[in-house]
Amino acid sequence: MTGPVSTQIDGEKCIGCGLCLAVCPDRTIALQGGVATVNGTECISCGHCQAVCPVGAISVPEIGAFLHLATIHEDLHWLPHGDYDPASLVRLMRSRRSCRNYTDKPVSGEMLKDLVKIGTTAPSGTNSQGWTFTIIDRRQDVIKLGKLVALFFKKLNRMAENPLLRLAARLFGGDRLGSYYRKYYRTVAHGLREWEEQGVDRLFHGAVAVIMVGGTENASCPAEDAMLATQNMLLAAHAMGLGTCLIGFAVEAVKNDPAIKKQLSIPAAETVHAVIALGHPAERYREVCGRKEVVPRYARL
Ligand SMILES: Cc1cc2nc3c(=O)[nH]c(=O)nc-3n(C[C@H](O)[C@H](O)[C@H](O)COP(=O)(O)O)c2cc1C
Ligand code: SF4
Ligand code: SF4
Repeated sequence: MTGPVSTQIDGEKCIGCGLCLAVCPDRTIALQGGVATVNGTECISCGHCQAVCPVGAISVPEIGAFLHLATIHEDLHWLPHGDYDPASLVRLMRSRRSCRNYTDKPVSGEMLKDLVKIGTTAPSGTNSQGWTFTIIDRRQDVIKLGKLVALFFKKLNRMAENPLLRLAARLFGGDRLGSYYRKYYRTVAHGLREWEEQGVDRLFHGAVAVIMVGGTENASCPAEDAMLATQNMLLAAHAMGLGTCLIGFAVEAVKNDPAIKKQLSIPAAETVHAVIALGHPAERYREVCGRKEVVPRYARL
């Protein structure tokens, strides 16, 4: 978030190369007499200037520390553009599949915390980093959350199956209830019956942990930031040996039922944008994912 400048430049060390000026998004730095000087009043604390300076003349205290990981041995040297095997990266992206079968093995607290830290390596609007993470690390709590979500959908289904309510909702507030009835009512009713009568977990698929990714009101782009952090976490989880699945039904329930947020100790002003089910996978695939043909549009102005 653009704010006061905390950037400090050691004029004695500066060799006047100008690299910091070129990468600064806020035009905060200028060369004066061949030495870099802070002359702007805005700064998003991105730390690009510190990272680019060849002689270590810049520090930006506001960027905070590197968030060290407990389960991964990291190389903190910056990887130059093109210095990574794209085939390996794309293979990882194609191999991440939504996992709907998990073992009972718990996911360690260290792994869950590392995933959150990895999430924060994502870009965020004006570097505001206004994301929030709520971890559920025990299967019994995932089940309790499942019961709250089921209760929410039971009430929603009761409303949606009433044609008068659907009509009234359409007249006064658009066709959301009708659209829900046509798209999801039957699947949800079936899932609820299986949950209640046979204990089949069609919501979290037996996952032993959940991470919810949300955003605060003061983030510039809370939904986008949360989803970018989420995708980083999904890919990292696969590389760490974990299966994941996004649970949109749980997002809908948490967004619309303040009682669920309260139970989770999530402040009312926060919005949850992603619910990630996690666990050690009990499934393997023979091949990577396919996707529909995509035809990009070319715009020449
Ligand atoms: C926003 C969003 C919500 C989703 N919600 C659910 C869900 O509630 N339950 C579920 O089993 N899968 C859910 N998924 C997973 C999708 O079904 C899955 O990503 C899609 O079928 C593609 O498969 P893949 O993830 O294995 O590549 C969701 C995915 C996204 C992006
Ligand atoms: S931290 Fe970012 S915005 Fe602030 S002076 Fe350095 S490059 Fe510019
Ligand atoms: S990048 Fe470092 S050496 Fe180059 S102008 Fe900026 S402060 Fe000076």
